[in-house]
Amino acid sequence: MSEGGQVCIAGGGIIGLALAFELTERGRDVCVYEAGRIGQHCAASVAAGMLAPVSEADISHPELSRLALESHGRYADFVRRVETASGEQVGYDTSGTLFVALHRDHRAQLQHLHDFQVDRGFEAEWISRAEIREMEPAISPTASAGLLLRHDHQVDPRRLMHALAAAIRGRGGTIVEDARVLRVQAAGEGYEVHVDAEGQQLGERFAQVVLAGGAWTGQIEAPLPPLPVRPVKGQVLRLRGERLISRVVRTPDVYLVPRDDGELVVGATMEEQGFDARVMAGPVLDLLREAWRCLPGIYDIELAETCAGFRPALRDHMPAIGLAHAPGLFVATGHFRNGIELAPVTAQLLAEQMETSNASPLLEPFAPGRFAEAGELPAGVAPGTEGGGR
Ligand code: GLY
Repeated sequence: MSEGGQVCIAGGGIIGLALAFELTERGRDVCVYEAGRIGQHCAASVAAGMLAPVSEADISHPELSRLALESHGRYADFVRRVETASGEQVGYDTSGTLFVALHRDHRAQLQHLHDFQVDRGFEAEWISRAEIREMEPAISPTASAGLLLRHDHQVDPRRLMHALAAAIRGRGGTIVEDARVLRVQAAGEGYEVHVDAEGQQLGERFAQVVLAGGAWTGQIEAPLPPLPVRPVKGQVLRLRGERLISRVVRTPDVYLVPRDDGELVVGATMEEQGFDARVMAGPVLDLLREAWRCLPGIYDIELAETCAGFRPALRDHMPAIGLAHAPGLFVATGHFRNGIELAPVTAQLLAEQMETSNASPLLEPFAPGRFAEAGELPAGVAPGTEGGGR
């Protein structure tokens, strides 16, 4: 067992990398272990990158909408800092989102979304058929109404993860790929972290450990309260060719996210299939059909990539962020459909908690211990307790 750096982050997805970025900015010595290659197997590597705090958040959880809005407000500054530190662009685009209705049922759904957006104080502009034609001529003439959501933005998650990794390494942080964290054990004032690195078993000691393994977090053996995290599969397509739309376009059945380089991301299914990573013909057909109904021009562009990712979901579809075991074992997972949106606020508030032992009131509803029932806790676990320290 060798002495490791101060902080170990188990998981190099968007949450683990964003946290490592914030901690290295605070001068912390950080080591990230990623089970695969950065940007290749995590949920964020599949994600389209929509930043839609109201239309994507589960409206039955106002506390989640609040956190998403807080993160949304922090995004521009987060992107600026990542781009400056890495020298890379991450495709942050604030052109807004056009939500369109292709039939009567869609129109009623748009009406609900409009009312909800307006209730939350967001500008949601009702757009006529003629205005849709003018704004986005490639959209099907069957689109009879739309909502222009100027506050719904996008970022390219793959470029963002690449830039975060470059920034972390540039500041002296360590990222170890093909290294799966198997077990975390309390050891004195810190933790021993056992890692399988390409078949070799390693052991390192850290003062603080953060489990940020996305849908795989539950597979890490650790002194945690119960964390019922499961994968919710999303199949996503990437088309490539002439740019057909100038902003994100959605219907209630599909979303279409265009990038400057000609990529068009089409998503996404929501499936309870465990960790079955196969891309299946039926869902691809469904996604293409819904995308084609909205944007007939996709018929003539390349289907460049099909992939499946696993959104980490907890039982209540809210994330778990915070201290899970004293003195310094933290959790950041369960971000479900909102991982890209929630990355800045998760990373900044958790880094603050790890530094100062003070948890932001914004994180209270997301305590990792909330799934524990009396008698279920392993010794020494105090769910929701503040604390930590290096
Ligand atoms: N946030 C988009 C998705 O989960 O499909």
